[in-house]
Amino acid sequence: MSRRLVIVGSGIAGLYAALLASDAGADVVLLTKGSLEHSNTWYAQGGISAVLPEPAPGDTVAAHIADTLRAGAGHCNEAAVRLMCTEAGSDIAALQQFGVRFDAGPDGGPALGLEAAHSAPRILHAGGDATGARTAGALIGAVLARAARGTLTIHTHAHTTALKEHNGRVTGVEYLQDGTLRSLAADAVLLATGGAGRLFGQTTNPAVATGDGLALAVRAGAAPADLEFFQFHPTCLVAAATPRPHRLDGPLLISEAVRGEGAVLVDAGGRRFTKAYHPDAELAPRDVVSRSIALHLAKLGNPGGHVYLDARPIEQDHGAGFLGRRFPTLTRKTLDAGIDWTRELVPVAPAAHYWMGGIATDLHARTSIPGLYAAGEVACTGVQGANRLASNSLLEGLVFGRRAVEDFLEGSSADPSVPALTPRSGAPVGSGPCSSGGGESRTEPFSREALRSLMTSHAGVLRSGKLLAGAAGTLARWAAVVRPDAVPGSADPAVHEDRNLLLAAQLLVSAALARRDSLGAHYRSDETLETIPLRPKASLSHD
Ligand code: FAD
Ligand code: SIN
Repeated sequence: MSRRLVIVGSGIAGLYAALLASDAGADVVLLTKGSLEHSNTWYAQGGISAVLPEPAPGDTVAAHIADTLRAGAGHCNEAAVRLMCTEAGSDIAALQQFGVRFDAGPDGGPALGLEAAHSAPRILHAGGDATGARTAGALIGAVLARAARGTLTIHTHAHTTALKEHNGRVTGVEYLQDGTLRSLAADAVLLATGGAGRLFGQTTNPAVATGDGLALAVRAGAAPADLEFFQFHPTCLVAAATPRPHRLDGPLLISEAVRGEGAVLVDAGGRRFTKAYHPDAELAPRDVVSRSIALHLAKLGNPGGHVYLDARPIEQDHGAGFLGRRFPTLTRKTLDAGIDWTRELVPVAPAAHYWMGGIATDLHARTSIPGLYAAGEVACTGVQGANRLASNSLLEGLVFGRRAVEDFLEGSSADPSVPALTPRSGAPVGSGPCSSGGGESRTEPFSREALRSLMTSHAGVLRSGKLLAGAAGTLARWAAVVRPDAVPGSADPAVHEDRNLLLAAQLLVSAALARRDSLGAHYRSDETLETIPLRPKASLSHD
């Protein structure tokens, strides 16, 4: 009888792994907590970075590796980066075999976009700025076809609540479906549950990004790593500053590819300011651009404010109609919000986007617990270092989703001699809830909104020891109320998400407190920050 792989999550990592494992003859069960389309992957715009066998002139895999390492601020796992960039081409080819069609350039080859901190255009995209929906859409079609043939099982609206264990090995999952707690046995489990942008009031992530996989794995004893590194995307639309915020159905990221095509950032006075913070200005690594915006707004005395993206130079360079052709979704959605970006400025501010940290995994996506794999945003292979290079996340999900499947098929996850992983950073491995520390803690009771507001104001783009200690105190007090032992039997998925978010927040804040120096996306400004009145920015809160 074939061995069973349970895959949790229907983003790029979970869908791709499910297809590969199913086609190789494994008994695959794919669980996802919403419908198959509910994922961060669905919303990806810019694309997937990859140097193909016939790269753009002047581009090389070595350059992709170098760019990734540079953006990661010296904190990447170099072996993982080499592997990801080298193997990218074959996973892109496999994606195409599963029906994904990338946009073509004038010569018929793939159209390659440029994004910040890439030294060459190497971003494959689909439907202009609809890469995630097109990619996930094709993969969903492929898994549904297999499910119809009976070679793969799919459970949607199946909210995984715990990992089952026996003798130190993961042996399956528990999940909630239709208000009933169910259980599923497995030879191995692959967590592909994505990130946790919902920790913050300002986020580009959809509602499913609540850190479930991380929390489940940590409760089961898996080692996390690099949790202090959370990336804030510089340009999320500030809905409240648009004429028709009610027409938007969620957060709207304005892709980095727009800056790659020539858009610039200006402040309320119309001044370009990013050059004052980094010579590469708008095309500096993402953490730098987000921080430049936050510091500039603080300097202007408006830390909760926003800046503007000016996309008009793009139309001036490429001619009228270019923005609509290259970025059809963004053109439509900004128009929905009442902004014609061919003529008007777009209000933007940084928002929580991507967690570099996660469950520590090796080069085969194995966690520190036998029988448990993790791939995609939930994992920390170390490829993203302290700051992810744009469009490297979809790629990571592909490469390490596949490597998890290969390892499972070889049967090595059954090998109890898999060495325990050593965390690569000062992450709080095995630590319990954070100590309350010093600093000012807040008095309001726990609610998801209060948690998101606390994380935004105390553990966001700019952090200090005092703010983090205050956050740790508040989180410890909340954790005593949202007691871990009080909810496992709850039939309400939101209760499980709350508990997961709270644990994820504690782990993040604890790691951020432990890393006293700034690195990449983790910016500690203990000397100056105490004097800047950081407020959560209500206009960017999304529900
Ligand atoms: P996800 O795509 O987030 O999927 C996670 C899945 O797990 C979901 O289906 C979710 O419902 C499910 N799940 C979660 N918890 C549970 C549970 N308890 N039980 C069952 N199921 C569960 N990256 C790029 O490389 N290029 C881009 O252009 C790009 N653009 C982006 C634009 C936006 C707006 C956003 C938000 C992100 C973007 N990113 C981009 C980042 C990238 O999209 C994500 O990091 C990546 O898609 C993560 O893929 P994943 O498979 O790991 O997880
Ligand atoms: C974007 O399109 O700006 C997002 C790309 C990414 O997150 O990698």
